[in-house]
Amino acid sequence: MTSEVPTVPEVPAAPPVAAVVFGDALPAAERYVARLATDGVTRGLIGPREVGRLWERHVLNSAAVAEAVPEGSRVVDIGSGAGLPGIPLGLARPDLSVTLVEPMARRVEFLTEVVAELEESLGGSRWTVVRGRAEERSVVAAVGRVDVVTARAVAPLPRLAAWCRGLLRPGARLVALVGATAVAELPSVLAELRAAGMTDVEPRAVGAGLGDAATTVVVMTRGPR
Ligand SMILES: C[S@@+](CC[C@H](N)C(=O)[O-])C[C@H]1O[C@@H](n2cnc3c(N)ncnc32)[C@H](O)[C@@H]1O
Repeated sequence: MTSEVPTVPEVPAAPPVAAVVFGDALPAAERYVARLATDGVTRGLIGPREVGRLWERHVLNSAAVAEAVPEGSRVVDIGSGAGLPGIPLGLARPDLSVTLVEPMARRVEFLTEVVAELEESLGGSRWTVVRGRAEERSVVAAVGRVDVVTARAVAPLPRLAAWCRGLLRPGARLVALVGATAVAELPSVLAELRAAGMTDVEPRAVGAGLGDAATTVVVMTRGPR
Protein backbone atom coordinates (compact mmCIF):
# COMPACT_ATOMS: atom_id res chain seq x y z
CA MET A 1 0.00 0.00 0.00
CA THR A 2 1.36 3.43 -0.86
CA SER A 3 0.67 6.27 1.57
CA GLU A 4 0.14 9.66 -0.01
CA VAL A 5 2.25 12.44 1.42
CA PRO A 6 0.48 15.80 1.09
CA THR A 7 2.55 18.18 -0.97
CA VAL A 8 3.40 21.51 0.62
CA PRO A 9 3.45 24.21 -2.07
CA GLU A 10 6.87 25.79 -2.40
CA VAL A 11 7.39 29.51 -1.98
CA PRO A 12 7.78 30.77 -5.57
CA ALA A 13 10.94 32.63 -6.57
CA ALA A 14 10.62 36.27 -7.61
CA PRO A 15 10.57 36.80 -11.39
CA PRO A 16 13.30 39.20 -12.69
CA VAL A 17 10.80 42.04 -13.21
CA ALA A 18 10.08 42.11 -9.45
CA ALA A 19 13.50 43.72 -8.86
CA VAL A 20 12.51 46.57 -11.20
CA VAL A 21 9.11 47.05 -9.55
CA PHE A 22 10.23 46.85 -5.91
CA GLY A 23 13.84 48.07 -6.07
CA ASP A 24 15.39 48.15 -2.57
CA ALA A 25 12.16 46.72 -1.15
CA LEU A 26 12.55 43.43 -3.08
CA PRO A 27 13.67 41.46 0.02
CA ALA A 28 10.58 42.76 1.86
CA ALA A 29 8.37 41.78 -1.10
CA GLU A 30 9.92 38.29 -1.03
CA ARG A 31 9.22 38.07 2.70
CA TYR A 32 5.60 39.06 2.05
CA VAL A 33 5.21 36.41 -0.66
CA ALA A 34 6.72 33.80 1.69
CA ARG A 35 4.22 34.82 4.35
CA LEU A 36 1.30 34.53 1.92
CA ALA A 37 2.52 31.12 0.72
CA THR A 38 2.81 29.71 4.25
CA ASP A 39 0.72 31.45 6.93
CA GLY A 40 -1.59 32.93 4.33
CA VAL A 41 -2.54 29.44 3.19
CA THR A 42 -2.75 27.74 6.58
CA ARG A 43 -4.83 30.63 7.95
CA GLY A 44 -7.25 30.40 5.02
CA LEU A 45 -6.46 33.77 3.40
CA ILE A 46 -4.92 32.39 0.20
CA GLY A 47 -6.06 29.29 -1.66
CA PRO A 48 -3.31 26.64 -1.94
CA ARG A 49 -3.68 26.66 -5.73
CA GLU A 50 -2.75 30.35 -5.80
CA VAL A 51 0.73 29.78 -4.36
CA GLY A 52 2.43 29.07 -7.69
CA ARG A 53 1.05 32.29 -9.16
CA LEU A 54 1.41 34.60 -6.17
CA TRP A 55 3.89 36.91 -7.91
CA GLU A 56 2.18 37.50 -11.25
CA ARG A 57 -1.46 37.14 -10.40
CA HIS A 58 -1.47 38.79 -6.99
CA VAL A 59 1.62 40.77 -5.95
CA LEU A 60 2.77 42.25 -9.29
CA ASN A 61 -0.84 42.64 -10.45
CA SER A 62 -1.42 44.70 -7.29
CA ALA A 63 1.77 46.74 -7.76
CA ALA A 64 0.60 47.66 -11.28
CA VAL A 65 -2.02 49.91 -9.62
CA ALA A 66 0.87 52.25 -8.70
CA GLU A 67 0.73 53.72 -12.23
CA ALA A 68 -2.68 55.24 -11.45
CA VAL A 69 -1.65 56.74 -8.08
CA PRO A 70 -0.18 60.28 -8.04
CA GLU A 71 3.09 61.03 -6.21
CA GLY A 72 2.82 61.51 -2.43
CA SER A 73 -0.84 60.47 -2.18
CA ARG A 74 -2.60 59.44 0.99
CA VAL A 75 -4.12 56.12 -0.02
CA VAL A 76 -6.76 53.90 1.57
CA ASP A 77 -7.02 50.31 0.36
CA ILE A 78 -10.46 49.00 1.21
CA GLY A 79 -11.26 45.30 1.59
CA SER A 80 -7.55 44.63 1.75
CA GLY A 81 -7.92 40.94 2.72
CA ALA A 82 -4.38 39.58 2.95
CA GLY A 83 -3.01 43.01 1.89
CA LEU A 84 -3.83 43.23 -1.82
CA PRO A 85 -3.23 45.65 -3.41
CA GLY A 86 -2.22 47.88 -0.44
CA ILE A 87 0.92 46.03 0.65
CA PRO A 88 2.56 45.63 -2.79
CA LEU A 89 1.57 49.24 -3.56
CA GLY A 90 3.34 50.50 -0.43
CA LEU A 91 6.38 48.32 -1.19
CA ALA A 92 6.66 49.65 -4.74
CA ARG A 93 5.98 53.28 -3.75
CA PRO A 94 7.75 54.55 -0.61
CA ASP A 95 6.32 58.03 -1.29
CA LEU A 96 2.79 56.84 -0.36
CA SER A 97 1.16 56.33 3.01
CA VAL A 98 -1.35 53.49 2.81
CA THR A 99 -4.17 52.63 5.20
CA LEU A 100 -5.51 49.09 4.94
CA VAL A 101 -9.23 48.85 5.79
CA GLU A 102 -10.63 45.38 6.42
CA PRO A 103 -13.66 44.25 8.46
CA MET A 104 -12.72 40.61 9.19
CA ALA A 105 -10.83 40.05 12.46
CA ARG A 106 -8.76 37.13 11.16
CA ARG A 107 -7.55 39.18 8.19
CA VAL A 108 -6.86 42.24 10.34
CA GLU A 109 -4.71 40.11 12.63
CA PHE A 110 -2.71 38.83 9.66
CA LEU A 111 -2.32 42.34 8.22
CA THR A 112 -1.15 43.74 11.56
CA GLU A 113 1.52 41.05 11.88
CA VAL A 114 2.71 41.42 8.27
CA VAL A 115 2.90 45.22 8.48
CA ALA A 116 4.95 45.03 11.70
CA GLU A 117 7.37 42.56 10.09
CA LEU A 118 7.74 44.54 6.87
CA GLU A 119 8.14 47.89 8.60
CA GLU A 120 10.84 46.46 10.83
CA SER A 121 12.79 45.26 7.79
CA LEU A 122 12.20 48.49 5.83
CA GLY A 123 12.81 50.77 8.82
CA GLY A 124 9.90 53.22 8.86
CA SER A 125 6.14 53.47 8.97
CA ARG A 126 4.35 52.91 5.67
CA TRP A 127 0.98 51.28 6.45
CA THR A 128 -1.81 51.68 8.99
CA VAL A 129 -4.38 48.95 9.59
CA VAL A 130 -7.97 49.88 10.43
CA ARG A 131 -10.66 47.31 11.19
CA GLY A 132 -14.10 48.11 9.76
CA ARG A 133 -16.17 48.64 6.66
CA ALA A 134 -15.35 51.46 4.27
CA GLU A 135 -18.78 53.03 4.65
CA GLU A 136 -18.82 53.06 8.46
CA ARG A 137 -18.63 56.43 10.19
CA SER A 138 -16.02 55.14 12.62
CA VAL A 139 -13.76 54.23 9.69
CA VAL A 140 -14.22 57.61 7.99
CA ALA A 141 -13.49 59.31 11.33
CA ALA A 142 -10.35 57.20 11.88
CA VAL A 143 -9.00 57.57 8.34
CA GLY A 144 -10.20 61.02 7.26
CA ARG A 145 -10.48 62.04 3.62
CA VAL A 146 -7.79 60.82 1.30
CA ASP A 147 -6.42 61.39 -2.20
CA VAL A 148 -6.88 57.85 -3.53
CA VAL A 149 -8.96 54.81 -2.59
CA THR A 150 -7.89 51.46 -4.04
CA ALA A 151 -9.96 48.28 -4.06
CA ARG A 152 -9.36 44.88 -5.62
CA ALA A 153 -12.19 42.37 -6.04
CA VAL A 154 -14.29 43.95 -3.31
CA ALA A 155 -17.72 44.80 -4.77
CA PRO A 156 -19.46 45.80 -8.02
CA LEU A 157 -18.43 49.32 -9.06
CA PRO A 158 -21.63 51.22 -8.12
CA ARG A 159 -21.60 49.69 -4.62
CA LEU A 160 -17.89 50.37 -4.28
CA ALA A 161 -18.34 54.01 -5.29
CA ALA A 162 -21.13 54.47 -2.73
CA TRP A 163 -19.06 52.84 0.05
CA CYS A 164 -15.97 54.95 -0.71
CA ARG A 165 -17.64 58.33 -1.02
CA GLY A 166 -17.06 59.34 2.59
CA LEU A 167 -13.35 58.56 2.32
CA LEU A 168 -12.73 60.55 -0.86
CA ARG A 169 -12.15 64.29 -0.73
CA PRO A 170 -13.71 66.14 -3.70
CA GLY A 171 -11.30 65.63 -6.61
CA ALA A 172 -9.91 62.40 -5.11
CA ARG A 173 -9.63 59.22 -7.12
CA LEU A 174 -11.04 55.71 -6.81
CA VAL A 175 -8.83 53.10 -8.50
CA ALA A 176 -10.62 49.78 -8.76
CA LEU A 177 -8.97 46.54 -9.83
CA VAL A 178 -11.92 44.66 -11.23
CA GLY A 179 -12.27 41.73 -13.58
CA ALA A 180 -12.52 41.94 -17.37
CA THR A 181 -16.32 41.52 -17.18
CA ALA A 182 -16.73 44.60 -14.98
CA VAL A 183 -14.58 46.61 -17.41
CA ALA A 184 -16.69 45.42 -20.36
CA GLU A 185 -19.90 46.29 -18.51
CA LEU A 186 -18.72 49.79 -17.57
CA PRO A 187 -21.08 51.63 -19.98
CA SER A 188 -24.09 49.98 -18.33
CA VAL A 189 -23.17 51.26 -14.83
CA LEU A 190 -22.02 54.79 -15.78
CA ALA A 191 -25.33 56.40 -14.80
CA GLU A 192 -25.20 54.77 -11.35
CA LEU A 193 -21.61 55.90 -10.86
CA ARG A 194 -22.53 59.47 -11.80
CA ALA A 195 -25.49 59.31 -9.40
CA ALA A 196 -22.99 58.30 -6.68
CA GLY A 197 -21.12 61.55 -7.42
CA MET A 198 -18.34 60.13 -9.60
CA THR A 199 -16.98 61.84 -12.71
CA ASP A 200 -14.32 61.06 -15.36
CA VAL A 201 -14.91 57.32 -15.17
CA GLU A 202 -12.48 55.49 -17.41
CA PRO A 203 -10.69 52.17 -17.83
CA ARG A 204 -6.90 52.39 -17.82
CA ALA A 205 -4.40 49.70 -18.82
CA VAL A 206 -1.60 49.32 -16.26
CA GLY A 207 1.47 47.10 -15.84
CA ALA A 208 2.31 46.85 -19.55
CA GLY A 209 5.87 45.77 -18.72
CA LEU A 210 4.77 43.17 -16.19
CA GLY A 211 3.84 40.25 -18.43
CA ASP A 212 0.89 38.28 -17.03
CA ALA A 213 0.45 40.85 -14.25
CA ALA A 214 -0.71 43.51 -16.75
CA THR A 215 -4.30 44.47 -16.12
CA THR A 216 -6.97 47.13 -16.52
CA VAL A 217 -8.13 49.31 -13.64
CA VAL A 218 -11.19 51.52 -13.58
CA VAL A 219 -10.34 55.04 -12.43
CA MET A 220 -12.94 57.64 -11.40
CA THR A 221 -12.91 60.97 -9.59
CA ARG A 222 -15.18 62.19 -6.83
CA GLY A 223 -17.01 65.25 -8.10
CA PRO A 224 -17.48 68.47 -6.13
CA ARG A 225 -20.75 67.52 -4.44
C1 LIG B 1 -12.70 38.96 -2.33
S1 LIG B 1 -11.88 39.70 -0.98
C2 LIG B 1 -10.55 40.56 -1.80
C3 LIG B 1 -9.41 40.77 -0.87
C4 LIG B 1 -8.21 41.49 -1.50
N1 LIG B 1 -8.57 42.83 -1.93
C5 LIG B 1 -7.65 40.69 -2.67
O1 LIG B 1 -7.67 41.18 -3.81
O2 LIG B 1 -7.18 39.56 -2.45
C6 LIG B 1 -12.98 41.05 -0.52
C7 LIG B 1 -12.59 41.68 0.80
O3 LIG B 1 -13.42 42.83 1.02
C8 LIG B 1 -13.77 42.89 2.38
N2 LIG B 1 -14.99 43.70 2.48
C9 LIG B 1 -16.26 43.32 2.22
N3 LIG B 1 -17.11 44.35 2.41
C10 LIG B 1 -16.34 45.42 2.77
C11 LIG B 1 -16.66 46.78 3.12
N4 LIG B 1 -17.90 47.23 3.12
N5 LIG B 1 -15.62 47.60 3.45
C12 LIG B 1 -14.33 47.13 3.44
N6 LIG B 1 -14.02 45.86 3.15
C13 LIG B 1 -15.00 45.01 2.81
C14 LIG B 1 -13.91 41.42 2.79
O4 LIG B 1 -13.81 41.21 4.18
C15 LIG B 1 -12.76 40.77 2.02
O5 LIG B 1 -11.56 40.75 2.75
